[in-house]
Amino acid sequence: MCGIVGYVGSRDAASLIYEGLERLEYRGYDSAGLAVISNGRIEVRRDAGKISSLRALLQTSPVEGTIGVGHTRWATHGKPCARNAHPQLGSTGEVAVVHNGIIENYLELQKELAEQGVQFKSETDTEIIVQLVERHLAQGFSLSEAARRVIARLEGAHAIVLISAKEPDRLVVARLGYGGGVTIGIGDGEMFLASDIPAILNHTRQMVFLEPGQYAVIQRDKLEVHLLNGESIPVKVQTVEWESGSADKGTYDHYTLKEINEQPYTIASTIGGRVDFTAGQIRLPELNLTPEKAARIKRIIITACGTAAHAGMVGKILIERIARLPVEVDIASEFRYREPIVDEDTAVIAISQSGETADTLAAMAEARKRKAILWGIVNAIGSQAMRMADGCIPMKAGPEIGVASTKAYIAPLVDLYMLAVLLAEMRGNLEPAQRMTLVRNLYTLPDLVSECVARQSDVQSVAPLLKDIEHCLFMGRGIQMPTAYEGALKLKEISYIHAEGYPAGEMKHGPIALIDREMPVVAIVTRDPWYEKMIGQVEQVKARGGLIIAVATDGDERIPEIADEILWVPDIPWMLSPVTAIIPLQLLAYQTALLRGADVDQPRNLAKSVTVE
Ligand code: AGP
Repeated sequence: MCGIVGYVGSRDAASLIYEGLERLEYRGYDSAGLAVISNGRIEVRRDAGKISSLRALLQTSPVEGTIGVGHTRWATHGKPCARNAHPQLGSTGEVAVVHNGIIENYLELQKELAEQGVQFKSETDTEIIVQLVERHLAQGFSLSEAARRVIARLEGAHAIVLISAKEPDRLVVARLGYGGGVTIGIGDGEMFLASDIPAILNHTRQMVFLEPGQYAVIQRDKLEVHLLNGESIPVKVQTVEWESGSADKGTYDHYTLKEINEQPYTIASTIGGRVDFTAGQIRLPELNLTPEKAARIKRIIITACGTAAHAGMVGKILIERIARLPVEVDIASEFRYREPIVDEDTAVIAISQSGETADTLAAMAEARKRKAILWGIVNAIGSQAMRMADGCIPMKAGPEIGVASTKAYIAPLVDLYMLAVLLAEMRGNLEPAQRMTLVRNLYTLPDLVSECVARQSDVQSVAPLLKDIEHCLFMGRGIQMPTAYEGALKLKEISYIHAEGYPAGEMKHGPIALIDREMPVVAIVTRDPWYEKMIGQVEQVKARGGLIIAVATDGDERIPEIADEILWVPDIPWMLSPVTAIIPLQLLAYQTALLRGADVDQPRNLAKSVTVE
């Protein structure tokens, strides 16, 4: 949701913080700012708009110091403007705070402070934190003790960082609920702090991941971690293996295009070390799955948000077809409040790229409370979801910076395919020959994905058809129904065209009334068990004068007779076909967004990780 960076050491804090914020801009870009302790005073530079506004400010009004905090904002309370930008100061100007989250009881706290005569300077809920901390400091408490007491009064999920001119050698950081992640980087005589690994990965690989209900006191050569009751706990340092350059844009114009092009490597990486093509075996060691546990599972619930939920829809078909286990897909923001019927024989699989999505984490907590087997298919190393789960399938897709999820959509598709095969084998309902075929189908998948990525020019002639439209329908059936949902989400979130994914069989129950030349229909008609049905649906649209853009399998001779435009994909075993069919739709959304001058990597109103409700 928001991006936070902190530094304490002997180097120039402002430049290091600014560099980190640039790497976190995908987390929110309504405003940006930083605060540095300089000659015993807190100096703040902040402005509405993207990080480039802050760069201009720092050039015209530089600030020197070796300790500070920075923030990029995704506005929740108070419109995006300089006054509401973080860092927020209190009345004395001696304390600065940056915050990721929503204070759910802020009206009550705001009223209490107003009655004490506080004159608020912003419309944010965040300002309450620093006003309350100042009151505790005035009573003689240390910054960390003041922070601890204030945090205990806040409801909701938060990541909070405070600095004080009275204690100019330390940052205090706290994590409450499933608020945005807090990663502490340990350097040589310096310490870093960030919402996400990419912001500090080029300075250190030694990381500490703060858990909800913990706070830390960070000095340049000392780190203490505490529970909210003040008790000190051991510091757990992890080494992050990501390639530091992997979070850079490289030669690409946009992270989104880079990440679409990375997909062959993504597939190779998520398969790597997990498939024995000779023996026809799948190994998912981090899942901690035993034949006994596999036999005990009576049903599976997949819970996630957005693109991750669409991957779950594909997983439902794969697990039911291969492992013969009933699967439900439940949107996390619904699951968490439904009082779901879940018990110890239910496996709940949470899918999340960031591992920090508030709704998904809350759904996981709900599943945990009801004693389900809790698994995560997660990309971000050290994220909350990865740590909460009983077992995990790391997506191994590397950092995904573009807000529109691409490689972190196809990676879980393959992870779910491998899970289905493993479950089937452990439950004894897969013949060895069948298993061998399913496993060996993975062998050529990276090359097939590479072939799809190489066909970028195919969309060049199609994107202009969508450039000026306002609405678009995507339809698919069976294994490709989720592809229709995901293709529509890609188009809408980066080009701002109203696009809707629909089960093709549902078109005659209403949506077909919308069909005319102004409402293009993207139909996924690849070779699979639903192909004949899909041909019929496309003909129904054609008969009503619809403009049809089809995703079709190489060599198909019927589609050219009915579709206006075709995006070809190579032939592939149908259970893996969603992995390739989505790629031309990712590219189509990207090209269309470019033609419309949209901000591809940082679409308006969105953020890469939605860490609040
Ligand atoms: C996908 O392109 C969107 N950015 C969004 O739907 C995203 O998939 C969703 O917010 C879930 O994020 P997560 O995978 O990090 O949990």
